[in-house]
Amino acid sequence: MGDKKKVNVAVIGVGVVGVEILRVLKQRKFPVNNLKVFARSARQIDVDSTKYDVEAIADENFDGINIALFAGTEGEKGASRLYAQKFIEKGAVVIDNGADFRLEDGVPLVVPEVNKDKIKDNKGLIANPNCTTIQAIVALGPIHKNFGLDKVILTSFQATSGAGLKASASLWDETKEIVEKNKGKDFSSVDKTISSKPACFSDQIAFNVIPQIGGFGEHNYTSEEWKVVNETHKILGDDSIKISATCVRVPVVTSHSEAIYFTTKKETTVEELEKVLGNSPGIKYLSNSLPSCLSAEGGDDVFVSRLRRDPFCDKSFWLWCVSDNLRKGAALNAVQIAECLSNNQN
Ligand SMILES: NC(=O)c1ccc[n+]([C@@H]2O[C@H](COP(=O)([O-])OP(=O)(O)OC[C@H]3O[C@@H](n4cnc5c(N)ncnc54)[C@H](OP(=O)(O)O)[C@@H]3O)[C@@H](O)[C@H]2O)c1
Repeated sequence: MGDKKKVNVAVIGVGVVGVEILRVLKQRKFPVNNLKVFARSARQIDVDSTKYDVEAIADENFDGINIALFAGTEGEKGASRLYAQKFIEKGAVVIDNGADFRLEDGVPLVVPEVNKDKIKDNKGLIANPNCTTIQAIVALGPIHKNFGLDKVILTSFQATSGAGLKASASLWDETKEIVEKNKGKDFSSVDKTISSKPACFSDQIAFNVIPQIGGFGEHNYTSEEWKVVNETHKILGDDSIKISATCVRVPVVTSHSEAIYFTTKKETTVEELEKVLGNSPGIKYLSNSLPSCLSAEGGDDVFVSRLRRDPFCDKSFWLWCVSDNLRKGAALNAVQIAECLSNNQN
């Protein structure tokens, strides 16, 4: 794909991430020649007053696509396991939002601000990291480059939209039920529970916090926690970083927040770290104000704040970061990779 050439694009999946990809492509004026949108079923959708014809995905649809942005569900029946290879065989480069191929050898796992040089190594498939990993990497990548990371302890506070469209709706449905059944009651007699089994999470998410994202696995870490560990090692190209995570679902619709504790290899100061963070792409460093999930929603930045030294441990610091999980955590990062491909910038 040459410089400034218009590109034939396919978007596969029109859940929360797929819709955001359509929005980001338009907002960033991605040089689209022909756009095809696929899901399991055909229909027309409206995104910010632009209508898109969604086709039911089928093997005969894959000719002539240059870049295929996958935002389908994961696993055996998911879009990328079923169709990514078929797009690649027809000449497309696939950018996959799911976890199916992220850790495979030969599949670059890319956060453009940190490792866009890996894009050129692709053999037809490039993986977008997990949303929690992406925003952490935007903040930690420059710290690792300048001072070396010895240890990272990350606690995430993750929005319901991170689990897709139905999960976002379930927070609203549960909240509505609780508000409606308590109409006219005063605070002391409010019943904060829902009457039915939770639709999407292991527990009710309205008025609640759930310390589990994904299934439990090795060392009693969840799959989301292992994604943070393994993907960080792969993107930073350093398995020696001692990294540990606790991932928590909170009753927020959009934007993940993360408390990140890190220990550097080289001696540094808050002032030096502020300088590095303030000059790094993709980061909005806030020394005097606090980012919120609501203020980050719809934006492109990873907001970093609350940078402070641990008074009890050498070379150790805390930071807080917030970003829109559907944009930088998924759609925007994928479109940035597509931009690198279409500009031959990698
Ligand atoms: N949500 C996030 O914050 C986030 C962040 C990073 C990565 N991701 C990843 O991005 C992907 C999409 O997530 P999402 O939250 O947007 O999911 P979602 O809201 O559940 O939407 C999934 C979409 O994929 C389509 N789909 C599923 N299986 C398909 C198949 N076999 N062929 C074609 N289309 C298929 C569905 O089609 P129908 O509409 O026709 O059913 C639907 O439009 C997932 O892999 C997820 O892990 C999500």
